[in-house]
Amino acid sequence: MNWETFLAPYIQVVEELKIKLKGIRAQYEHESMHSPIEFVTARVKPISSIIDKANRKNISYETLENDMQDIAGVRVVCQFVDDIYTIVEMLRSRNDFKIIEEKDYIRDKKESGYRSYHMIICYPVATIRGEKQVIAEIQIRTLAMNFWATNEHSLNYKYEGQIPSHVQNKLKRAAEAAFQLDEEMSMIKDEVQEAQRIFNQYKSTHKHKGGGRS
Ligand code: GTP
Ligand code: MG
Repeated sequence: MNWETFLAPYIQVVEELKIKLKGIRAQYEHESMHSPIEFVTARVKPISSIIDKANRKNISYETLENDMQDIAGVRVVCQFVDDIYTIVEMLRSRNDFKIIEEKDYIRDKKESGYRSYHMIICYPVATIRGEKQVIAEIQIRTLAMNFWATNEHSLNYKYEGQIPSHVQNKLKRAAEAAFQLDEEMSMIKDEVQEAQRIFNQYKSTHKHKGGGRS
C-alpha cells in the first residue's frame, strides 16, 4: 500500500470542500446576514486510524475507497438546528458533487445520544490522469451537538470504546441537556440573529479600527 499516493486525492477533496464551505460563510458575512455556517473543520483520516478501522470492520485494502466513507471528512458547525437544514438544502442543490447517502441522526438520534446530520458524497477531483471520484463524509451539527460529540469521542478513546455504564448514563443526560439548549436557542433565534446583524454592521463600518476573525 502506497499511502502517499492513495491519500493524495483525499487531501485535495478536503481542501476544496473546506474552501467552498468557508466561501459560503464569507458571502453571508459580506452581506451582513446570519450565516448558517459558524465554522468548518476538515481532516483526512490518519493512516493509523484507517488501518484500525479497516481491521475492525474487516475492510480489505482493495475496497477501501468504497467501503471506508470517512477518509475525507468535513464538519460544518452551526448555531441553530434550523441552520443545519439550510445547509442540507444548499448542498442538495449543488452540482459539483453527488450525494450518495444522507443520515439524519437529529431526527433519529443514536443510542449513545449522538446527534448530527451526515451526508456521504461522491466528489470528482481532477488528477493528471483524469477525473477521479472520491467519497467524502460531511457532518453537519450545532455547536451544542459538537460539544457533546467531541467529549463523547474523547471518552470513547480513553475507554477504548467501552465507556462504563455510569459514564454512559451521564453522557445521555448531557445529550439531553444539549438537546434542550438547542431548543431554547431556537426560541430566541430571531432575537439573537437581529443582535448579530447589528453587530456585524457595526463591525463593517468600523473595519479598520480593530481586529476581527480571519
Ligand atoms: P463509522 O461509525 O464511521 O464506522 O460508520 P457508519 O457507517 O456506522 O456511519 P455513522 O454515520 O454511524 O458514523 C459516521 C461517523 O459519525 C463516525 O465516524 C463518527 O465521526 C460519527 N459518529 C457516529 N456515531 C457517533 C457517536 O455515537 N459518537 C460520536 N462522538 N461520534 C459518532
Ligand atoms: Mg458508526
